[in-house]
Amino acid sequence: MEHGGAQGFLPPFAHFATQAIHAGQEPEQWTSAAVVPPISLSTTFKQQAPGQHAGYEYSRSGNPTRNCLEKAVAALDGAKYCLAYASGLAATLNITHLLKAGDTIICMDDVYGGTNRYFRKVAMKMGLNIDFVDCANMECLEAAITPETKLVWIETPTNPTLKIIDIQACADVVHKHKDVLLVIDNTFMSAYFQRPLSLGADICMYSATKYMNGHSDVVMGLVSVNCDDLYERLKFLQNSLGAVPSPFDCYLCNRGLKTLHIRMKQHFRNALAVARFLESDSRVEKVIFPGLPSHPQHELVKRQCTGCPGMITFYIKGSLKHAATFLKNLKVFVLAESLGGYESLAEHPAIMTHSSVPKEDREALGISDTLVRLSIGLEDEEDLLEDIDQALKAAFAECKA
Ligand SMILES: Cc1ncc(COP(=O)(O)O)c(C=O)c1O
Repeated sequence: MEHGGAQGFLPPFAHFATQAIHAGQEPEQWTSAAVVPPISLSTTFKQQAPGQHAGYEYSRSGNPTRNCLEKAVAALDGAKYCLAYASGLAATLNITHLLKAGDTIICMDDVYGGTNRYFRKVAMKMGLNIDFVDCANMECLEAAITPETKLVWIETPTNPTLKIIDIQACADVVHKHKDVLLVIDNTFMSAYFQRPLSLGADICMYSATKYMNGHSDVVMGLVSVNCDDLYERLKFLQNSLGAVPSPFDCYLCNRGLKTLHIRMKQHFRNALAVARFLESDSRVEKVIFPGLPSHPQHELVKRQCTGCPGMITFYIKGSLKHAATFLKNLKVFVLAESLGGYESLAEHPAIMTHSSVPKEDREALGISDTLVRLSIGLEDEEDLLEDIDQALKAAFAECKA
């Protein structure tokens, strides 16, 4: 497949665009035959006789707009089922509740800070053991699994250093052990570029706040699974824990999915152009973008994914002052946390998204003062390149003065 000159990735998943537009959206499900799913705000649903209803009783346990979204996401993940939650972290909480006190979670050492914080500061207090392990190394992963291990939590690519983990290899190791579940946080890749379930994962989860919704106006989590029993347990927890998204947010995210394929292709094209520009620039120390042949796991990402999202990190030459001045001078890029929206964002992980990670851990992970993270949006390529160029010029002029 070819995206702005990047070749050798997996071909796109068949029928992705058609499913994004039609799966779960059948007009026949509504008496009005509405083509666009209505926002079903009612919290309760009429029963014909006690216990006799049309599939819905109370909006926490099931909602028609949420149902459309869940069906669409399941189709895009090549999954049997999907469940939606009030945030990505609510999805993490629900998955964690599959376990009981005394069980162990093996979590990759390089996960999203909020996941790390939840495991360390909340789940541990509830009697779960959390073992942070370098899951890029299959020997370390294998050695860490004990009879108490019930869940292995992996994120690929990692944030912000964009390390790629071999999902199939992890699944092979994890599934040598009975009753251990492999979870892949697929937030960065989105369903368009990566299908963890087809690579052997048991659970695929998202912060849909990012690419899946794609418009930076919804906070939401999603979980896809194939196993009937796992779905029933998660469905029970979705209702029991109650962290469900609002029908309005479900409507917005369902709408966002209709353009997921188009957005992801453009994110990739723009990101490739920016990454190539940065890589050839003498003011830049190093660029990390899995879509570039210089990325150490470029071959793995091509084997595992259909393309790369708009996430780029780079080390600016100089000091913290250079990085901060660069960020302050950007005009098209917005200096803000989060990622995956149509708008380009830039941030300083050491000061912003990863400030809660202890300094020595940050350093071990390569999150230095000169590291800048970009979420490349859907603007015109030339405007993005021009903006980066002028901000680099300003940084080097101001820091010399
Ligand atoms: C990779 C990843 N996973 C999970 C989350 C948590 O999602 P949310 O912010 O929707 O709760 C985030 C949020 O930034 C994330 O980047």
